[in-house]
Amino acid sequence: MTNSTVNFKDYIRVIEDFPTPGISFKDITTLLKDGEAYKAAIQALKKQVEHYNIDVIAGPEARGFVIGAPLALELGVGFVPVRKSGKLPSKTISASYSLEYGTDQLAMHEDAIKPGQRVLIADDLLATGGTIATVVDLVKQLGGEVVGTAFLIELEELQGRKKFEGIDVQSLVTY
Ligand code: PRP
Repeated sequence: MTNSTVNFKDYIRVIEDFPTPGISFKDITTLLKDGEAYKAAIQALKKQVEHYNIDVIAGPEARGFVIGAPLALELGVGFVPVRKSGKLPSKTISASYSLEYGTDQLAMHEDAIKPGQRVLIADDLLATGGTIATVVDLVKQLGGEVVGTAFLIELEELQGRKKFEGIDVQSLVTY
């Protein structure tokens, strides 16, 4: 299977009314469990981002890890986990972001990125953009240069990319 022959939407399961009524959930577990489709997706994303000349990839837990880490391996660069507050063991910086109800915090080790490094942010899904806007904020606080963002899926209707205007967005499939 080459990535030009794969229709990735065929591998993404859509579940209506999960986790709440009215939400049409994009389930990527059906893509991930297929070794050839998963590999083709990572290789297709690689093609879309390799021109950024990336030093390191940052990805938010948990689904950002299953996209960001294999993409980093393919590109031969490092991977930096962005975690919910309280999970990282060394000194961290953190930033809050809004959820549907209340707020949450994401954190990065303060030595995760060297000033001036070219950082790609990767995740499975761009929805409202709140998560990635927070990661952009953290990477910038550490002196990193955000050269782009990469997603398996972009939900265009939600216009998430407006939350981090001026930064490139690459996505494999859109809904
Ligand atoms: C999901 C998804 C993205 C984020 C997108 O993660 O993996 O990270 O939501 O939403 P947004 O663009 O509206 O911020 P979630 O917070 O559900 O965590 P998980 O990856 O641990 O399931």
